[in-house]
Amino acid sequence: MEPSSLHIIRDEHAALAAMLHALGMMLERGPGSDPAGFFDVLGAMLFYIDEFPERLHHPKETQLLFPKVAQLAPQTRELIDRLDHDHAHGETSVRALQHQLMAWELLGESRRRAFDEAAKRYCSFYLEHMRLEESVVFPAALAVLAPGDWQEIDAAFATNCDPLTGKYPRDPVYDKLFTRIVTRAPAPIGLG
Ligand SMILES: [Fe+2]
Ligand SMILES: [Fe+2]
Repeated sequence: MEPSSLHIIRDEHAALAAMLHALGMMLERGPGSDPAGFFDVLGAMLFYIDEFPERLHHPKETQLLFPKVAQLAPQTRELIDRLDHDHAHGETSVRALQHQLMAWELLGESRRRAFDEAAKRYCSFYLEHMRLEESVVFPAALAVLAPGDWQEIDAAFATNCDPLTGKYPRDPVYDKLFTRIVTRAPAPIGLG
């Protein structure tokens, strides 16, 4: 049976991938006749990415899962260095995107292309990052980690409750944010 931490990582990756696809669809649609709603939802999506994956998901991969895998499966070390580097720069990237979105909203069309290109690059980079974790790091971890290692990692990830996976009760603090995203974003993440 797969360790529960890997299940949680997969769930969180799926939630994040759905968010990134929805963000891409929003960009294809453009602001249309409701620019206020458009910028509101995109801003909420970027805020979500900054709030959950950047603060909860990546640190646990970097602190708990990756070091043990890199130590016991040295062939993964180079890739893990690259993934750690991605984690270290993730917050800066998403903050830069938030700033570029604000520039488009407040300064107008001349800033649209910069955001559009940066957001598309960010989405493909992130999807590739998650793909490498699942296709290279997970199999290596399963091959080399002992039951005691998994107990420790599983316990740490179990406290990591991303409400967008749909598997945990919602934290009331974030309810407003999710309602904003879900009522206006396109499927599969939302109803709009
Ligand atoms: Fe990661
Ligand atoms: Fe991840």
